[in-house]
Amino acid sequence: MTLVRFISADGSSTREVEGAPGERLLDLAQADGQPLEGTCEGQMACSTCHVIVAAEDFSKLPQASEAEEDMLDLASGATRHSRLACQIWLTEALDSLTVRIPAEVRNMQRR
Ligand code: FES
Repeated sequence: MTLVRFISADGSSTREVEGAPGERLLDLAQADGQPLEGTCEGQMACSTCHVIVAAEDFSKLPQASEAEEDMLDLASGATRHSRLACQIWLTEALDSLTVRIPAEVRNMQRR
């Protein structure tokens, strides 16, 4: 199991949930009520599932694809530890993962 920690945008609250290998971070976040729209349902077309991965966890994840990188370029408030939650699957090897919800979520599809 992976212990996933969600930190709210303003840093004031933290939620910890457990996820099984094969589970997608976006699904886990939504099940927990995190404010990630995930409008395009993983098509890498909206960036509303943007999260900021804790620096110490970032290298534990497989590298982002070029398509994901391109989408992150459009995400507001993106940092170099940004990822799309729809592109992160939990694995056996991943014991913990901390991500922060970005301050501003903008849906590219609605523009
Ligand atoms: Fe749209 Fe992840 S759900 S990019």
